[in-house]
Amino acid sequence: MQPLSKIVIPVAGLGTRVLPASKVIPKEMLTVVDRPVIQYVVEEAVAAGFTHIILVTSDGKSAIEDHFDAHFELEVTLERKGKSQLIDSIRDIVPPEVTISSVRQHHPLGLGHAVLCAAPLIGAEAFAVSLPDVLLHHPDGDHALDLKSLVAAYEDGSALFMVEPVPRENVSSYGIVDCGGATADPGQTADIVGMVEKPKISEAPSNLSIIGRYILPARTLELLRETEPGAGGEIQLTDALQKLLQEAPVKAYSLKGKTYDCGDKLGFLRANVRFGLSHPELGTAFREIFEEFVHETR
Ligand code: G1P
Repeated sequence: MQPLSKIVIPVAGLGTRVLPASKVIPKEMLTVVDRPVIQYVVEEAVAAGFTHIILVTSDGKSAIEDHFDAHFELEVTLERKGKSQLIDSIRDIVPPEVTISSVRQHHPLGLGHAVLCAAPLIGAEAFAVSLPDVLLHHPDGDHALDLKSLVAAYEDGSALFMVEPVPRENVSSYGIVDCGGATADPGQTADIVGMVEKPKISEAPSNLSIIGRYILPARTLELLRETEPGAGGEIQLTDALQKLLQEAPVKAYSLKGKTYDCGDKLGFLRANVRFGLSHPELGTAFREIFEEFVHETR
């Protein structure tokens, strides 16, 4: 099997759930503690061994590409002031061996369509997809641990993606999988027998949601080309994967860490608290502030 090197990160979404914050600033550039959300997702991908990051962008998202580029003026100014630690924090956010490419999605036609926009850069290899709304947090501090395990568990020709249980009343916000009643312990995989995008509560086959980390065979791209618009009138990745199920194994990986949905205001606040409390430099001081607040509201 060819080593997995490419990961597609769709960043073309409008971010309507976090307006007005995302009116001018891409939602992926909003800050969790001390860095933009997209930096966590890219760092996770790099830590898991991906060397080619493909951003699927849209109008008004150039700040994302700039963030991963060199900032000459800032670097020179910091150098003059002898602020070497700050220089390190902005230089080489991705190591030199990692390539970041971008491709435009001209019309907001859904996640499946966004992935298809990256097809010319993916070629005929298996590839990963990582959704930037979702941050993964692991209590050990290695937040890339689940993505590393996903890569390790991947078998050529199949599809494998992360799932997590959600409260039954929330199933209509996610892709939901049917594992035929099988359950996978955290860190384990289970065979998927069906999946549906944003089902009604009464029609959901389970409460196991697709969380936005996938490894997919190149065949997915051909299936996406034939996929008609589905839920919300959009071309859905879940619908193409349901088709893939007829010809290849599709598996769910149950994650060990927890997800934080930064595409949603409350999820965003939760992410700031979680990553703030576990931040290596700010965590201790932030815990004191947080406990003060909790004490005040009692
Ligand atoms: C997308 C996927 C969905 C998945 C979700 C995870 O939906 O289509 O299957 O469960 O991401 O966040 P979106 O949130 O873009 O509507």
